Amino acid sequence: MKPVRIGLLGLGTVGGGTVNVLARNREEIARRAGRAIEVVQAAVRDPGKARICGTGGIALCGDPVEVVDNPDIEIVVEVIGGTGIARELVLRAIGNRKHVVTANKALIALHGNEVFAAAHEKGVTVAFESAVAGGIPIIKAIREGLAGNRIDRIAGIVNGTSNYILSEMREHRRGFDDVLGEAQRLGYAEEDPSFDVEGVDAAHKLTILAAIAFGIPLQFSRVHTEGIAGLHLEDIAHAEQLGYRIRHLGIAWRRPGGVELRVHPTLVPRRHLLASVDGVMNAVLVHADAVGSTLYYGAGAGAEPTASAVVADLVDVVRALTTDPENRVPHLAFQPDAMSELGVLDRDEAGSAWYLRMTAADRPGVLAEIATVLGEAGISIEAVVQPEPPRGAHFAKLVMLTHTVSEGRMRDALGRVERLDVVDGEVVALRVEHLEDCPA
Ligand code: HSE
Repeated sequence: MKPVRIGLLGLGTVGGGTVNVLARNREEIARRAGRAIEVVQAAVRDPGKARICGTGGIALCGDPVEVVDNPDIEIVVEVIGGTGIARELVLRAIGNRKHVVTANKALIALHGNEVFAAAHEKGVTVAFESAVAGGIPIIKAIREGLAGNRIDRIAGIVNGTSNYILSEMREHRRGFDDVLGEAQRLGYAEEDPSFDVEGVDAAHKLTILAAIAFGIPLQFSRVHTEGIAGLHLEDIAHAEQLGYRIRHLGIAWRRPGGVELRVHPTLVPRRHLLASVDGVMNAVLVHADAVGSTLYYGAGAGAEPTASAVVADLVDVVRALTTDPENRVPHLAFQPDAMSELGVLDRDEAGSAWYLRMTAADRPGVLAEIATVLGEAGISIEAVVQPEPPRGAHFAKLVMLTHTVSEGRMRDALGRVERLDVVDGEVVALRVEHLEDCPA
């Protein structure tokens, strides 16, 4: 049978990795897909640039429209990134009835509803396994492997750069800026590293995971997003002393009144498996009613791990080329006419336990005053620690853990605590998740 011809939009890290994996595993991939897969054309910004892959047999061109309009090409692989030109090209490829494989999480999170509607209309597939958690086949696991379950919660480390920075800060007591520079040099960070450290990249990925887990539309703007940029080394150390580790988590949680979507630094118990995920590795914990908890771990970025997911998508698309579009796996796991009405909860409705650190006057009655404000707000304290102050200091540092409380209530209470005369400056507040097997 004739090989399937594909065109690449972009031949950088992921595009180059894809070419290498397709070449190295050509025969096995053909045995799986039923046909050989051949890269025939690639759009590149700079044809003279050194590549991580060979380009023999691939026609390089400067204009990506040539690729999406090329009548010989059946599948377009989009690895340009971003939401500008990439969106236009993907929609144009779909308009030309080509299938698309994309690693572009921003495109799917922001424009996925439009892209999938267009694909549905034209009877083509848009596959996006590589958009979330690099090489971990998490989309397939949730969309297909867990299709018999009611999924309750997802908690994932889905940004390798943030996880790398947090790991280095804790292990080597290095400052944030120092480690970020290294992550950029190692090629893990996004082109705009603020996307990594401010949680935007993780929020893109969480948006996608929540849609396929709960059958809700993609709603990036509803994700409450915080990054790791403001984290202090001392909170990482206090968390350790209390038996916790700080991880940057994306959490999607089905509650009785709607779904919580939030991305933020989180204290997780040190004995939990997610606490052991170090460096640029990713991990996604999924809790569902029939299977219980399942955990997926692997490389979240890098040329070949991401290419592994791109090629798996290519194999899926090739296998489905002759099937009736109505009988294919739906893009977002649920049939497009069977989406859930479940809304996304407002930030203040989310519930979690909290870690608080504050500086207070060191004299009798201060702790009672703070505890009274929290008590009046219905916030129950689980533990209080007073780390030793520097010699001769007239202030005390207080570190507290609370039981679960709604975010709105905690925010109100923190405002009142900060206004107390005995409290100096802002209270550092971080969420704590115990990640126990307790749905809703
Ligand atoms: N910048 C991303 C990360 C790359 O650090 O995880 C993969 O999406």
